[in-house]
Amino acid sequence: MYKAAEEKEFFKDSKHFLNNQPIASSYDRLIEVLNYHEWKYAVMNDPVISDFEYDQLFDALKNIEAANPLLIRPDSPTQRIASDLNPDFPSVAHLTPMLSLGNSYNADDLFDFDKQIKKLSGTDEDVIYNIEPKFDGGSIAVVYENDLLVKSATRGNGVEGEDITPNAKTLKSIPLKAAFSKFGIVKAELRGEAIIPLALFKKVNETREAEGLKVFANPRNAATGGLRTKDANETSNRGIEVFMFQLSYAEDKDGNNVLSNFKNHSDHLDMLRQLGFKVPKEGQKVAKNIKAVAKFVSDFESKRDSLDYEIDGMVIKVNDLKVQEAIGATQHHPRWAIAYKFKAKQATTSLVDVEYQIGKVGSITPVAKVEPVFLAGVTISSISLHNEDFINQKDLRIGDKVLVERAGDVIPYIVKSFPELRTGKEKKIKFPKYCPRDHGEQSELIQLEGEAAWRCPICQFGRDNIQKIIFHVSKAGMDIDGFGKSNVERFYDLGWVQDISDVYNLPYQKMQQLDGFGEKSALKIQKSVEKAKYNSLQKLLASLSIHHLGKKASKLIAEQINHAYELKDWTAEDFTNIKDIGPVVAENVKAWFAFPGNFEMLQRMEERGVDFSQKEEDKPKEVILDAPLSGKSILFTGSLQTLKRKEAQEIAEANGAKNISAVSKKLDILVVGEKAGSKLTKAQALGTVKIMTEQEFIDLLELEF
Ligand code: IVH
Repeated sequence: MYKAAEEKEFFKDSKHFLNNQPIASSYDRLIEVLNYHEWKYAVMNDPVISDFEYDQLFDALKNIEAANPLLIRPDSPTQRIASDLNPDFPSVAHLTPMLSLGNSYNADDLFDFDKQIKKLSGTDEDVIYNIEPKFDGGSIAVVYENDLLVKSATRGNGVEGEDITPNAKTLKSIPLKAAFSKFGIVKAELRGEAIIPLALFKKVNETREAEGLKVFANPRNAATGGLRTKDANETSNRGIEVFMFQLSYAEDKDGNNVLSNFKNHSDHLDMLRQLGFKVPKEGQKVAKNIKAVAKFVSDFESKRDSLDYEIDGMVIKVNDLKVQEAIGATQHHPRWAIAYKFKAKQATTSLVDVEYQIGKVGSITPVAKVEPVFLAGVTISSISLHNEDFINQKDLRIGDKVLVERAGDVIPYIVKSFPELRTGKEKKIKFPKYCPRDHGEQSELIQLEGEAAWRCPICQFGRDNIQKIIFHVSKAGMDIDGFGKSNVERFYDLGWVQDISDVYNLPYQKMQQLDGFGEKSALKIQKSVEKAKYNSLQKLLASLSIHHLGKKASKLIAEQINHAYELKDWTAEDFTNIKDIGPVVAENVKAWFAFPGNFEMLQRMEERGVDFSQKEEDKPKEVILDAPLSGKSILFTGSLQTLKRKEAQEIAEANGAKNISAVSKKLDILVVGEKAGSKLTKAQALGTVKIMTEQEFIDLLELEF
């Protein structure tokens, strides 16, 4: 959308604004600059300034507009009704608008906020505040009716959100049932933040990497994306937890608003905690006045790194609910609350050198070597520069002073360089034309259409790639027990394995002689390798390190073929004809099979005994369309006389039914054997469940015994 030269200008002007340097037509330009950064952040997923700097620019714009309201342009970012509505999800109206928060950055801002509160509520007395962490994740709203979770939504545009109820129902920190009725509430709406604990985030990314999926830049992206995935299982797999921080709506049986039946916001939190919700605990405090708030938030900032999840500040809320109600809200944020934003974790250092790392799929990642710098508890000496565009856009040079930040508070990130501090000795960074790895020949780097990364074709497709062998033998690959990374490295150094096919051609006699090896361990590896030769086709495909081809796509492809070689003749369309296989996977698999070196490697594997044929577990489970039980949910109870329970369930599934485990309104059919107990009684009471005997089930499906 923007030309490279324009982007450079935007970046330069951002710095002018941040440094308060005069600039022509500053209001208009500031709008353009902010619009550019919003695009970089939200559309390109590639911000060139930190969140902190963005907030500063946004505040500068707000200040200009506050002083000159007549100036305000309709395309000013301040006029944007923040919206991340996705048309793929049905929308749902919030019971009350989901607002944002005003920001503060230091004690003075907090004292100003307190003055304003006192003015609005007409008091000189100390105001009591509730403090909570400001969780860095994705907003979520949940609605309960008659104690049952009935709806969940994202923030959306604040008035309407996306209906993500099925996804929210997979999250264990959101109770499906909560006894609001005990407090006289029949309908309640809560607000909270979905986050991923750091330890789980690490695991999620490790698994994604092993499956050939793109890793998430930070826990916030993974959490917000996880809430909005079309696949509720994916939501459940991401380790998302939800902290509830607000009771935003409460209605009694007569339809009265009963929010202020409680005195304080902290009482709401206590109630939610009592009802089984996850509610802020560490960092939550009721403070007797703004001075106590200022001390607490500044003390808590130093504990930020010891938490198991990301927070980017604290939220300060007037505790008294009546005062909250009296003060009200602007269109954008409540007047009774403010965010206290922590300092971004930034430091300056020098860029000493750039090294180039080669990834599993042959992509070349430039990595900045910087003068070691201590940043928010960690010493940083290496920082990824992502790709060549990133270097050019930031105009980085070796010898530059650079501003470093732990973006998303985990991954270090170069925010910018300081050209004004250059001495003239700095050197331009020359991105290599050839692969930095010694292949015995020069391997010219290639750039695929639409990708920023440069790749080495030999590393991607050719021999000589130890990472691929390590992945191939790993659990996520062919699961060759007892092999492991260190053995791959050792055998690689000995020249025994140069590519995946050599895994099936090991000199076991020689292996027995190795230090630390004996007959037993060599035999163990041999046995595991022999076993792996008969692995399913889906496992084999997923173990080849084909870019973007993970476990799921491998399964979908394996279902369609009888032998791996068939893929050599597949067109991109043959791949995309499979539901859930997109053009990126299609192109990558096609390119992989088209590369002669790869096919030769497969042939060597086959010669060495690897079976490329489709196995039983690759075959798609047969679903009979228009089957008698199509779309029905079914449950077997009591002791069956003719069929075994498992067998009955499999037959039901093959005839289109879904086995479920409990009696509820969702159940369509209950098949009862002898001595059926409470499940039968419950189903009878519901009156909506079709109840049939085992014989009726057998007759219905015309089974023969
Ligand atoms: S209160 C009407 N409390 O921050 C009250 N928000 O910038 C508005 N957030 O969209 C929100 N932790 O998703 C509140 N303890 C907390 C929070 C919190 C994180 C998020 C929330 C909101 C955003 C506002």
